[in-house]
Amino acid sequence: MCCDQSKYTQNNTSVIKKINEIASFVEGLNLKTHEELEDFKSKYKNKSGVLNSLFNEFKNIPNNEKKEVGKALNDLKNTINKKLNSFEANNTTTQETISDDLTKNTLSNSIGSCHPLSLVENQIIKIFSSIGFNLSEGPEIEDDWHNFTALNTPEDHPARDMQDTFFVQTNPSKLLRSHTSSVQIRHMTENNPPIRILSPGRVYRNEAISSRAHCLFHQIEGLYIDKNVSFADLKKTLLFFAKSFFGEKSKIRLRPSYFPFTEPSAEVDVYWGLKTESDYRITKGTGWLEIMGCGMVDPNVLKNCNIDQEKYSGYAFGMGIERIAMLKYKVDDIRVFYENDIRFLNQFSSQL
Ligand code: PHE
Repeated sequence: MCCDQSKYTQNNTSVIKKINEIASFVEGLNLKTHEELEDFKSKYKNKSGVLNSLFNEFKNIPNNEKKEVGKALNDLKNTINKKLNSFEANNTTTQETISDDLTKNTLSNSIGSCHPLSLVENQIIKIFSSIGFNLSEGPEIEDDWHNFTALNTPEDHPARDMQDTFFVQTNPSKLLRSHTSSVQIRHMTENNPPIRILSPGRVYRNEAISSRAHCLFHQIEGLYIDKNVSFADLKKTLLFFAKSFFGEKSKIRLRPSYFPFTEPSAEVDVYWGLKTESDYRITKGTGWLEIMGCGMVDPNVLKNCNIDQEKYSGYAFGMGIERIAMLKYKVDDIRVFYENDIRFLNQFSSQL
């Protein structure tokens, strides 16, 4: 580097000329390395550098000339600072680029996964929507009418004991719905047949928590109301579901059962097989697994929803999503669905 001449001469014009020369020299510099930067700082910026000694001598300039010389000096100072800043800006970017792993994917690859209960729910919805069922949802805090009375379970009916219910302490006419059949009542009250709906959602029962039961779980219920709906329609629909969900070779059987809102009522079993020891354990040695309750909608329920029970009939069914998910994914403790243990949830990340 040259031009480290810093003394003012008597001639003010030549002083300014020199300052400008230094400035244009600085401007033309191309600092590449840290050594060059340090060299530059000690020559121009540090205490004993050109800029400082010019400012020191500035005091000796006659007052009437200070303005012009001062301006040239300030311009030089800015040029020097600009040079330093531009070195820093370029250098920081270079360092970051080099320290980055250039093979890294720009997209984050931890994209999370669907919860297994959602996977099962979505699959069930897809199967039933392919045969014309639409979704219908309702509130989790229900009243007695929609959860019990309209479903042919008036107060003091012994069937109320089938579902141990949580009542709202401050308002006992409100409760946490014990099944999503309450949504069917709401839908039938507000819509005219034909009705073909699916109601998925969370339900609550006052059960002791264990590996097989929880005080909250998820259900998906179906309802079909139209003219001339028969038990044969129900059976065929459920067989279609079982084949779509568990595989083409699936078999189902219906065992007589009791629900206050359906007559006749049945419990549906799907054939699981009896090949391995775990098949014996899961099916209690029968080869069959119970997957849902179903039946023909009791005419009293239709009446409660102002649907002409002479003209219309229908079927309903309901299943627990946890139960189906436990079978599908061979999960033997219902509690894992609610613990959100990332090691459990990660196992479902490849599924949509
Ligand atoms: N609501 C019933 C239950 O929660 C299931 C069911 C639905 C049974 C529809 C029959 C018809 O146990």
